[in-house]
Amino acid sequence: MGIATLDLNNGQTIPQLGFGVYQIEPEGTADAVRQALEVGYRHIDTAQMYGNEAGVGRGIRDAGVDREDVFITSKLNNGFHAPEDARVAFDLTLSELGTDHVDLFLIHWPLPTLYDGDFVATWKTLEEFYRAGRARSIGVSNFQVNHLRRLAQEADVVPAVNQIEVHPYLLNSEVRAYGAEHGIATEAWSPIAQGGVLADPAITTVADRLGRTAAQVVLRWHVQRGDIIFPKSTTPSRIQENFELFDFELTQEDMAAVSALDRGEEGRTGPNPDVFDYVPA
Ligand SMILES: NC(=O)c1ccc[n+]([C@@H]2O[C@H](COP(=O)([O-])OP(=O)(O)OC[C@H]3O[C@@H](n4cnc5c(N)ncnc54)[C@H](OP(=O)(O)O)[C@@H]3O)[C@@H](O)[C@H]2O)c1
Repeated sequence: MGIATLDLNNGQTIPQLGFGVYQIEPEGTADAVRQALEVGYRHIDTAQMYGNEAGVGRGIRDAGVDREDVFITSKLNNGFHAPEDARVAFDLTLSELGTDHVDLFLIHWPLPTLYDGDFVATWKTLEEFYRAGRARSIGVSNFQVNHLRRLAQEADVVPAVNQIEVHPYLLNSEVRAYGAEHGIATEAWSPIAQGGVLADPAITTVADRLGRTAAQVVLRWHVQRGDIIFPKSTTPSRIQENFELFDFELTQEDMAAVSALDRGEEGRTGPNPDVFDYVPA
């Protein structure tokens, strides 16, 4: 069955399911991306910080899939928030990927404690890329509600997406609700918490009843909540498994049982965006 496509706030569309390439070695990326495209994925989520954009571009060409048929997202590296640096970094993203545009370009982290907290200047630089058609959509990642409010007050373009950590142990409900109210689609990163939620009895019970895997149940839960996901795997059988989400459904009770696992901040596996200030050397 086909993958659902969602409308973004600027008239562009995005496949709800994609393939994430965080922590895939640069040498292995082309192969993983080619495999994912052969399975049927048409949306790849990479970032400058992952160091594997060139592999993404190569994987797409190796698969023989038309560039126009693949939705590519990349993200600005933390050391490049100053507008003049962001412009150079964005040019490099396009040349590494071997394309004249990305479908979506994000500020990877808000870094409110760096750059005088001026992520608005960075955002206005992404607006340039958008207006020039070199990023068909622009968005943010790891932005908290107060960061989104500042953009709403000080910038012109509303982010198309906010890519944040969301899985059954961290529902991130406040940030998600702000997005829903303001037309900002939520992209849920680490959708299975890098495997950390898969042994939970509340999830395995549903999986056993439906004859599905725990990963499929959790990924389906995201899909029914309306979020965009891109699970990562370098295991061929899992790349296939994670793609098979559109031929079954969870009941309201199943959805509620998975959502009840929320641990709030305790469930966060990644850094807290309010204080995260890592800049790669
Ligand atoms: N914006 C951000 O700050 C940010 C942060 C983190 C992630 N992301 C994005 O979100 C994507 C997904 O997040 P993630 O890579 O952190 O974690 P994830 O997709 O939640 O989990 C990936 C891990 O789970 C394993 N796995 C995948 N499918 C499985 C299955 N069906 N059954 C059992 N285990 C399975 C993978 O192992 P194998 O590979 O060994 O199969 C890998 O270790 C990333 O690739 C990246 O694109 C963004």
